[in-house]
Amino acid sequence: MPIKACVFDAYGTLFDVAAAAREAAAEPGREAFAAVWAKVATDWRLKQLQYTWLRAVADAHTDFWEVTQNGLDWALEASGLDDADLRERLLALYFELSAYPEVPAMLATLKAEGFATAILSNGEPNMLKGAVDSAGVADVLDDVISVQDVGVFKPHKSVYQLVNNRFGTRSDEVLFVSSNGWDAAHGAGFGFISVWVNRAGEPMDRLPWKPAHVLHDLTTIPDLARAG
Ligand code: LAC
Repeated sequence: MPIKACVFDAYGTLFDVAAAAREAAAEPGREAFAAVWAKVATDWRLKQLQYTWLRAVADAHTDFWEVTQNGLDWALEASGLDDADLRERLLALYFELSAYPEVPAMLATLKAEGFATAILSNGEPNMLKGAVDSAGVADVLDDVISVQDVGVFKPHKSVYQLVNNRFGTRSDEVLFVSSNGWDAAHGAGFGFISVWVNRAGEPMDRLPWKPAHVLHDLTTIPDLARAG
């Protein structure tokens, strides 16, 4: 079936989740943080995701901004950092995360060629708006779909179903793009034409489903959308 909609995960896929810690580490007066920023960024992301999965299986949903703060607090303590100003700065930067450089042109190409475009994210709507606005991509996205509408995090199937509800698509008319291997796998399991953007060269997740495509960045997404 021809692709009708191209749908993107947000954090790690369109927006660089390491950017907040990397940018804070480069600021004057943050020498102690500069020595450990990469570990903090990795721990922050891992704990943030673990908390989403645990809350989903425990039926204990909260919004993604809360688990983002919970993950950061764990990561800062694990690196021996007790610095309220740093915490506030990291959260402010996370709210306006940088997009990867190829994102605006890639989305503009998809829109110009008539594909529907959207984000499907765990993100809380205000934080998604902050990142979308700071990347200047609001006008090349038809929608920003948040799990907030179903009250459970990915990879619950009801999250992926939001896409077909919004666009009236069948799953095999959707190109679903995520840099999270587990998200790309579950998107494939749902029936989307799934693309894993493996920027870090990680091994494939050992899950029952595999993405149809593996890319290193987002530049060739329009080619995949055209190919169907
Ligand atoms: C999201 C996370 C999983 O944006 O990256 O949904």
